[in-house]
Amino acid sequence: MDRIRIVGGQKLAGSIPISGAKNATLPLMIAGLLTQDTLILENVPRLADVVLLQRILGNLGVDIMIAGKRAGADPNSGRTIHVSAKNIVDTNASYDLVSQMRASFWVVAPLLARMGEAKVSMPGGCAIGTRPVDLLIMALQDLGAEIEIDGGYVIARTKNGLRGGKIVFPTVTVGGTHTAVMAATLARGTTEIENAAREPEVGDLADCLNKMGAKISGAGTSRIVIEGVDKLNGTRHSVLPDRIETGTYAMAVAMTGGDVLLQNARPELLQSALDVIASTGASVTATNEGIRIARNGGQIAPVEVTTQPFPGFPTDLQAQLMALTSRANGTSHITETIFENRFMHVQELARLGARIKLDGETATIEGVPRLRGAPVMATDLRASVSLVIAALAAEGETTVNRVYHLDRGFERLEAKLAACGAQIERLSA
Ligand code: EPZ
Repeated sequence: MDRIRIVGGQKLAGSIPISGAKNATLPLMIAGLLTQDTLILENVPRLADVVLLQRILGNLGVDIMIAGKRAGADPNSGRTIHVSAKNIVDTNASYDLVSQMRASFWVVAPLLARMGEAKVSMPGGCAIGTRPVDLLIMALQDLGAEIEIDGGYVIARTKNGLRGGKIVFPTVTVGGTHTAVMAATLARGTTEIENAAREPEVGDLADCLNKMGAKISGAGTSRIVIEGVDKLNGTRHSVLPDRIETGTYAMAVAMTGGDVLLQNARPELLQSALDVIASTGASVTATNEGIRIARNGGQIAPVEVTTQPFPGFPTDLQAQLMALTSRANGTSHITETIFENRFMHVQELARLGARIKLDGETATIEGVPRLRGAPVMATDLRASVSLVIAALAAEGETTVNRVYHLDRGFERLEAKLAACGAQIERLSA
C-alpha cells in the first residue's frame, strides 16, 4: 500500500486548481441511469470513487466512455465522461460492490423509476458511523414503491410505476434527497419534498436533471417540488467545484501560513467555513479567479464550531478544522452533530502532539505551540487529509499510511501541494 511522506514547516505559496466535486459527480453519474440517451459530464475528477462507480454502473449495463485530452487542453482540467444507459441489463447491485462505496446504494432510485424494480445491497456501516438507509427507503415508499428487505438486500418494486407523493424527511439527508429527487422525476404526478437537504450538490443534480427534461423547482431550499415526466433525455453538464477540497486547502494555508489562490473555487459553496477560517486570523478574499487565502505571521485564533447541514459548517471539514485548531493560541470546541463516530482522527492527531479531549459529540482542543512529525494512519477520507494538513505544519517528517482513503476523494493531492512548495511525496509500496 502506498504511503505519503511529508516534511513539514514550509509555507504554501502559489495556486491550486480546485477539481470537480466528488459528491456531485457520484449522483450525476447515477442519474445517467434515468435516460436511454447519453449524459455527458464535464469537469469530472480523477478519483478512485469515480472508477469504482464506473464499475458498478458497468455491471448494470451502462457504457461509460472517458474522453481523452485534446492537444493544448489545460492539464489541470477535469475529464469529460459519456454515460450511456441505453440498455440496462441488470437491476441488481451486489454487497461486495455497494459495501465499498455507500453512495452506490443510490442506484436503487433510477433503477426503480425506469425499470420498475431494483435489488440493491444495504451498504452497511462505516468508520464514521452506522449510516442507515431507512429514510431513503421511506422516500421510495412514499412514491408508491413496495419494499422488502431480504438477506441484507433492499428489494424494491412498483406494479404500475412510481406516483408522486409527499415526502417529509425527519432529518436532513443528502442521500435521501438525491434518491427522492431522482425517483420523482419519472413518477406520475407531483412530488413535494419537505426538509430537503440544501447542499450545493443537490442543486447541481437538479440543474442537470432539469437540462435532461425534468421539472424540478426549489432545489437549494428545504422544499423541492417535482412534476414527473414520461422520459428524460441526454444533456451536457459541468460538475460544480469541490467545496470540501476548497475548504481543505484553505485550512492548510491557514495552518502553515503563506498565500495561495484556490482557482475556480466559489465562496458561496462554503461561506460558513470561510467565515470560520477568517475568524482564525487568515485573510480570505474572493477574486475573479477563485478564493485567495493568506496568513502571514500572527497566531491562529481558537474557534467554537458545530457541524450542521448546509449552509452550516460541513461535517466533511470537521477533521481538517480540528487539525488547524490544534495549533491555535487557546482552546477550541468542535461539536459533530451529523455522524456519531466521526472522531477517528483524534487519536492520530494526538500522535503529532495535538491535545484533544472528547466528551460525547464535542471535542475540546487545547492549542499547542508546535506539532512534531510521526507515522500516522487514517480510517476515512477526511480524517486522512486532516493528518496531511497537520503534517504540513508539523516539525520533521510524517508518513501517512493507508493513502487509498485519500485517493478516493482528493485528485492529485501531492502534486497540488508540492506545486505550492510543500515537501510531500508518495512512496509506492
Ligand atoms: C453525504 O452522505 C456525503 N456523501 C458525505 O460525504 C457527507 O458527510 C454527508 O452527505 C453529510 O453532508 C456523498 O455525497 C457521497 P446523509 P450521506 O444522508 O448522503 C442520517 C465524504 O467524506 N441518516 O446526509 O450518506 C445519517 O446517519 C462523505 O465525502 C439516517 O438516519 O449522508 C446522518 O446522521 C462522508 N437515515 C445524517 O442522516 C438515512 O436513511 C446525514 O446523512 C439516511 C441518513
